[in-house]
This record gives sequence, C-alpha cells and structure tokens, in this order.
Amino acid sequence: MKFVLILISLCIQIHAITLQLHQVGGCTCEMSSVQTECIPSTCDWNATTSKCTQKTCDKFTVEMCDQLPDYLKCAWKDNSCQTFTKCSDYAYSDGFKCFRVGPCQAVFKKNSSGLYPCTDKTNDSMHSIDSCAGIDQVGCIETVQDDGKVCYWNPSTSTCEAWSSSACSNFDNTSQSACPKFSCDYNATTGKCTTRTCDIITVEAACTMVWDITQQVATQCKWVNSKCMEFDYSTLTQSTCLMGSSLSYKWNSSTSKCEVCAQPKSDDDTDDTSYSNMVQGVLAILMFINI
Ligand SMILES: *[C@@H]1O[C@H](CO)[C@@H](O)[C@H](O)[C@H]1NC(C)=O
Ligand SMILES: *[C@@H]1O[C@H](CO)[C@@H](O)[C@H](O)[C@H]1NC(C)=O
Ligand SMILES: *[C@@H]1O[C@H](CO)[C@@H](O)[C@H](O)[C@H]1NC(C)=O
Ligand SMILES: *[C@@H]1O[C@H](CO)[C@@H](O)[C@H](O)[C@H]1NC(C)=O
Ligand SMILES: *[C@@H]1O[C@H](CO)[C@@H](O)[C@H](O)[C@H]1NC(C)=O
Ligand SMILES: *[C@@H]1O[C@H](CO)[C@@H](O)[C@H](O)[C@H]1NC(C)=O
Repeated sequence: MKFVLILISLCIQIHAITLQLHQVGGCTCEMSSVQTECIPSTCDWNATTSKCTQKTCDKFTVEMCDQLPDYLKCAWKDNSCQTFTKCSDYAYSDGFKCFRVGPCQAVFKKNSSGLYPCTDKTNDSMHSIDSCAGIDQVGCIETVQDDGKVCYWNPSTSTCEAWSSSACSNFDNTSQSACPKFSCDYNATTGKCTTRTCDIITVEAACTMVWDITQQVATQCKWVNSKCMEFDYSTLTQSTCLMGSSLSYKWNSSTSKCEVCAQPKSDDDTDDTSYSNMVQGVLAILMFINI
C-alpha cells in the first residue's frame, strides 16, 4: 500500500511539472467552449453556434504565420500565409525557419539556389537534425541528433561535431555563445557551463520555461515574489489557467482542474525514460525508509 502511494505521488510529480515539446502551447481553438477562452488572435468565436474555430491561414501576418504552433498548419510562402502542405515544399535562406513552418527540420546543406531545404522532423526535439557531421556552421548550433547528441562547431577543426555526452559541462571553456543555446548558462569568470534552472533566472520576462539540453522536455517557471521558480501550472485557477500557462493548460469545468491540453506521447521511448526514472526514485525512497 505504501509502495503504491509513493508510486502514485512520484508519477504525479514527474508528469505535472514538465511538458514534452508537443504539449507546449498545445491548446487548440476547438478545445475552447466559452468565448473568454477563445483567443481572438488565432481563433474566431461564432456566437450562433457557441463554437471556437481556428482562423484561416490567410488572416495571419508574416510574423504570426511564422510563430504559430504546428497544429494550425499554416506556412508562409509566396508572400502570403497559406495552408501548410509538406516539409519538402519549403526552403529558406534562414534554415531555422524550417523548424517553425510545421513538423519539419532543416537540411543544413544549401541547395544550389542558396537555400536550406526543409524535411520531415525525425524527433520530437525543438531543433532535431539527422546528423551533425558534414553540416555548415550556421546549422551547427542548437541542433540535436536523434541519439540525443548535441552538435558543436569545433573552431579548431572547422567541422561540426556531435558531443559524446549531452551535458552542459561539454561547453566548459568553449565559447560563450554556444553554451546558452542549449539551455545552459555560461559563467565567464569560472568558464563553467551549467544547466539552466528556473531559480537562476533573474529577469521576469525570461522566467517562462527551461528546456533540457536535447530540447525535448520543458520545465515550467513562474515569477513569484520577485523570484523565478519551478511552477506546476495545474495549480492555476479557472481565470488564469489558459493564459497563465501560455496555452498549454485549459480549465476543465467538469473536474474543476487546470489540465494539460495535449496528452503526453506514450508510444515511444519517452515513456520508458519516465518509467525508469520513476522506478529509480521509488527504489531510492524505499531504501531510505528501510534505513
Ligand atoms: C456561425 O455558424 C453558423 C452555422 O454553422 C453559420 O451559418 C454562420 O455563418 C457562422 N457565423 C460566423 C460569423 O461565422
Ligand atoms: C532550392 O529550393 C527551392 C525551394 O524548394 C527550390 O525552388 C529551388 O529549385 C531549389 N534549387 C535547387 C537547385 O534544387
Ligand atoms: C528521439 O531522441 C531520443 C533521445 O534524445 C531517442 O531516445 C529516441 O529514440 C529518438 N526518437 C526517434 C524517433 O528518433
Ligand atoms: C577550464 O579552464 C580553467 C582555467 O583555465 C581550468 O582550470 C579548467 O581545468 C578548464 N576546464 C576544462 C574542463 O577544460
Ligand atoms: C560566476 O561564478 C562566480 C564564482 O563561483 C560567482 O561568484 C558569480 O556570481 C558567477 N556569475 C554568475 C553570473 O553566475
Ligand atoms: C474533463 O475531465 C473529464 C474527466 O476526467 C474528461 O472525461 C474530459 O474529457 C475532460 N474534458 C476536457 C475538455 O478535457
């Protein structure tokens, strides 16, 4: 019984405070059933039917079109915001645009027109890439291979390398510019690159969320009493749930709870990881109780 209780509480702890990439801003217009939750920038409220629907792509400006989440399926092409077709239909002079156009990633090798072609995403990581090897310097920052290795531009060899282990400390004594791109923070005095956590953020505007080094999982932060700290959005109220979570959580009136909109993906490795973390946590606690 005690074991089960610990198991349950650990489960809640692990899943409540972190979000997978696709869960961030995962609330769609269609999920809103009241006008106050129908965000006018991306959704239209129909007063007759009391339904909230997504605006059509042509209503969005270039700035909006670029920032919209993938599920809105809009992409900027030929000077207008159009319905997204498929990744291979897009190519940009700024390759990182591929990550924003839809479920796509960039091929960081320019085609002969000087553009970076987009291709289907290979991993649920913000800046996923097939391989660090052979790509140019532009693409060799913030990108992560499917095996979780991060790409790093080695200035002494002028090649893009995959780090053998994904830890911020790989960027110790390297460059001040690479370290912060991977959700790490560089201390110029000590030359140390360390994992960014909510509590070391000192600016309110930056206190939103922090990502793991592979940019697959986000921890949510909130500014409380002039400090940035980890925050469980599920504790928000009816009036603050949707906006306070930047459209990741929505109020469920039947449960009276602030609940995550997009369900975590459980049919892949992510589940194994959280399960093994959980088992490790349980074992640690059981050992502690026995002593
Ligand atoms: C609202 O929905 C009704 C029924 O589908 C439709 O006839 C009407 O045109 C819609 N109103 C607006 C403003 O879109
Ligand atoms: C480069 O990509 C753009 C966009 O897909 C395409 O229009 C152009 O033909 C490509 N150039 C070559 C040489 O493939
Ligand atoms: C995504 O990356 C993780 C590690 O970062 C890996 O375990 C997983 O197999 C990858 N998934 C796919 C579909 O490549
Ligand atoms: C980084 O540089 C400092 C000072 O030069 C040195 O003490 C430290 O060992 C270096 N760390 C690594 C990981 O190279
Ligand atoms: C960098 O490290 C030094 C020594 O540990 C510390 O005193 C300083 O506050 C750190 N700077 C930042 C910006 O964290
Ligand atoms: C609200 O919670 C109930 C009970 O868990 C669930 O069946 C329902 O799907 C939820 N509604 C929404 C909109 O998520």
